[in-house]
Amino acid sequence: MISERMAAELNKQINAELYSSYLYLSMSAWCDNAGYRGFSSWMRVQAEEEYAHAMKFYDYMLDVGGKIALDTIEKPQTEWDSPYELFEAVKEHELYVTKLINDLVAVAIEEKDYATNIFLQWFVTEQIEEVATASEIIDKFKMIGKNKESFYFLDKELGERGAATQA
Ligand code: FEO
Repeated sequence: MISERMAAELNKQINAELYSSYLYLSMSAWCDNAGYRGFSSWMRVQAEEEYAHAMKFYDYMLDVGGKIALDTIEKPQTEWDSPYELFEAVKEHELYVTKLINDLVAVAIEEKDYATNIFLQWFVTEQIEEVATASEIIDKFKMIGKNKESFYFLDKELGERGAATQA
């Protein structure tokens, strides 16, 4: 049986993952409105991944007898200046989520909750990948600068992630 403290922290993380999903969906909508179909598609896949993360926590809570308590999801930002700024915001958000996951691991250790600690390790690894992917995309933006043709191809390249996942 999971401790009340641990369950409360995992409930907060369900909310944080749902917020992440909402934020990336908002980013996807902004990209669509601005005509960046590829970036939009990438963000939409990202939003779906975050929903899946929330459900991983949700299912774990069910498995260990934690009481699930869903809360209000914060309103996400709806406007960005450019796709570059948008991906900078993705990286910043993923660094924030990494901190949340690390804090959860610290609580699991304090609570001597070894099962939750093991469960969280998947997220520790996942966060390394999430931050690395965002950094890689930002590097590409820096490389192409204001070159419109390269920008077109980057939008196309990122759109392929969506096509591959949704196929
Ligand atoms: Fe669920 Fe991108 O962290």
